[in-house]
Amino acid sequence: MKAVEIEQRQAAALEEIRAAADERSLDALRAKYLGRKGLVPALMKELKALPPEERPLAGRKANELKVAVQQALTERRRELAEARAHPAAAAASFDYSLPGVWRGTGSRHPISSIIERAVEIFHGLGFTVAEGPDIETEYYNFDALNTPPDHPSRDPQDTFYLSDGRLLRTQTSPVQIRYMEAHPPPVRIVAPGRCYRRDTPDATHSANFHQIEGLYVARGVSMADLKGTLAYFARRMMGPGVRVRFRPHFFPFTEPSVEVDFSCHACGGKGCRICKHSGWIEIAGAGMVDPNVFAAVGYDPDEYSGYAFGMGIERMAMILYGINDIRVFYENDIRFLEQFAQ
Ligand code: DAH
Repeated sequence: MKAVEIEQRQAAALEEIRAAADERSLDALRAKYLGRKGLVPALMKELKALPPEERPLAGRKANELKVAVQQALTERRRELAEARAHPAAAAASFDYSLPGVWRGTGSRHPISSIIERAVEIFHGLGFTVAEGPDIETEYYNFDALNTPPDHPSRDPQDTFYLSDGRLLRTQTSPVQIRYMEAHPPPVRIVAPGRCYRRDTPDATHSANFHQIEGLYVARGVSMADLKGTLAYFARRMMGPGVRVRFRPHFFPFTEPSVEVDFSCHACGGKGCRICKHSGWIEIAGAGMVDPNVFAAVGYDPDEYSGYAFGMGIERMAMILYGINDIRVFYENDIRFLEQFAQ
């Protein structure tokens, strides 16, 4: 074989080796070129038959082919092992030396965190979670909750009505009715969820906000149980220093009724912008379930009594995190949200 031919065979051999798909093909190629019956020994034998003047060049070319084939086999074997260890990188010819792309970590929305924490605290007191629909009927949102037909909260100025007469619930209280209809006493539930009111948005009002409703009905439940539960909740939620006060109020579905204030966590009760300089912030409405509500669900008011409450989630989030404008919860500004990443 002449020197040029040997060069051609070398080029073909290297191409074959580089294209080998696996180690077994490489073994076959090693045999084909370097093996006892392979090309290289055959070339060496042929050299003797060449005219003396062609021998030195052909000999050098044959040697070069041998070394090149050995190197190519080793290199391809290394590549295949690498591809087996990092399959994705091999596919994308990944450059490990490039710096990574930081995509940021998502975080819980502060409203979701407060709901989760509140549910966990009540869970520890034996409450389970109940839910109801956001689109409600007048019956569940008002009638069954002992709300008179001419009550101002029913006004279309305050409540979003759908064209079919249903409405977006203005409070989580209808979940009480749905739960009691479906379960005999005793009941001990909390119901977190969205509420809707036709309010003009400002720093303390939003047309969409969240409440967590609570209901405990059993024999002999009293206002003292309500106060103890809410005081315990407030300390777990806000910290041991928080104080709780009840102010007499009126709700159609409770008698007696109270509004519940927590001392302002943001200023420790000294007075600040968030608590409008009063040191207190209204967190909940509450009271003893009205006998008319029990009548609507078929509970016997002579046998059972209960307390109920509805707390504002945003209110708690505002004093807990020192936020003085409720609108930031819904704008989804990443600069606000990323402060809650853990
Ligand atoms: N539903 C009332 C509101 O949205 C809050 C409330 C008051 C809930 C008294 C209750 C309750 O369960 O007993 O203003």
